[in-house]
Amino acid sequence: MEEIHLKTLLVGGRVVDPSQGLDEQMDVLIEDGKIKALGTEITGEAENTINVQGKVVMPGFIDLHVHLREPGFEYKETIATGSQAAARGGVTTICPMPNTKPVIDSPERVKDLLERAKDAPVHVLPIGAVTLGQEGKELADIAGMKEAGAVALSEDGKSVMDTLVFRHGLQEAAAQDIPMFSHCEDKALVDGGVMNAGDKAKELGLPGITNAVEDVIVARDILMAKETGCRLHLCHCSTADSTVLVEMAKKQGLPVTAEVCPHHFTMSDDEITEDHGRFKMNPPLRSRVDVEVLKKALADNVMEVISTDHAPHGAEEKDQSMRKAPFGIVGLETSFALSYTELVKGGVMSLSDLVAKMSTNPAKVLRIPKGNLRPGSAADVVVADIDTEYHIDSSTFASKGKNTPFDGKAVYGQIEKTFVDGRLVYEK
Ligand code: DOR
Ligand code: ZN
Ligand code: ZN
Repeated sequence: MEEIHLKTLLVGGRVVDPSQGLDEQMDVLIEDGKIKALGTEITGEAENTINVQGKVVMPGFIDLHVHLREPGFEYKETIATGSQAAARGGVTTICPMPNTKPVIDSPERVKDLLERAKDAPVHVLPIGAVTLGQEGKELADIAGMKEAGAVALSEDGKSVMDTLVFRHGLQEAAAQDIPMFSHCEDKALVDGGVMNAGDKAKELGLPGITNAVEDVIVARDILMAKETGCRLHLCHCSTADSTVLVEMAKKQGLPVTAEVCPHHFTMSDDEITEDHGRFKMNPPLRSRVDVEVLKKALADNVMEVISTDHAPHGAEEKDQSMRKAPFGIVGLETSFALSYTELVKGGVMSLSDLVAKMSTNPAKVLRIPKGNLRPGSAADVVVADIDTEYHIDSSTFASKGKNTPFDGKAVYGQIEKTFVDGRLVYEK
């Protein structure tokens, strides 16, 4: 392993850390992989002094929802390329979903994944499947997977449709004190849909996915969390009514959190220009009304987390009609810029509130001591330029997946440096 600089001093940046209510110009001293001190007059013999004046310095982002495709689909992504993409996006911790081949559904598979990820440039915290093979029938060894290092459970890619099986999973998750990450999609209700049900689907002659496909399972899962006491985190919420249901759950004091992906608050289905796979993901791009309601729910902190659902696929499989292409777009290398541009530049929230959604709140969901720049914390730090416009260019991605509908989009918020445990893992 490469030596880390014993001391690195980041000088003169705008330090934004919502966990300390901080948003001001100061220096950050990193020592032995940890934040040593924050202040305006840190002097001394840092062997590595970096001028970051005019840049923002934030706790590294934590992405609770990514697909790394290894093992089994290495042509789409590997742990190496996916974690490099994370570093390039300022994401210092990623949680890979278990829908690989084989599925991550046992303590051995969790350990194997951690072994494969041991040289990754960012922290990799695996998510275990709820049922064996994600087949929705027999529960996986939840206690054993937690013991092996899984930080959450998820059937992502689908819902556990048998509610009794799901109840047992929630009961066991509650007993093991591990959160359930729910992909909310009523399998039968999808009814062959490939994009949001609406005028655009009609215009393109494509079968639609209604909001209820998501909402009925959001409601079910909240009620089941209430019944079992399990901590529930709702993945990639895309509809207006999901925000109403999450707000209701919170009013009842239920242990429910929810995430929204940048594409769902940045683009609506009326912006789909043609029937092409780059516009296809699950849940789909929704109506303008949904997009506006999601933004408000993020601003009001009903939705507390921004994650990407980074879903790389091969170029050929995505370069076809939405009828045939697989669901999913990449997100790790565009999440901060899209979020900063839409939410902060767009006047929806402050930069500090955005950092809370990308760093501090995801750490709270996992109950890990990350997502902050407090002295003593691991030095997972990201430096970004928020003043210079640039264009998203998928050909520069470290990810094997170039599948994004945002290619060419003008944005602000370029990542310049990413540190993990004090080590520089990415520099522009
Ligand atoms: O768009 C998606 N892609 N949504 C999912 O739920 C699964 C994911 C994938 O694995 O490609
Ligand atoms: Zn999903
Ligand atoms: Zn996913």
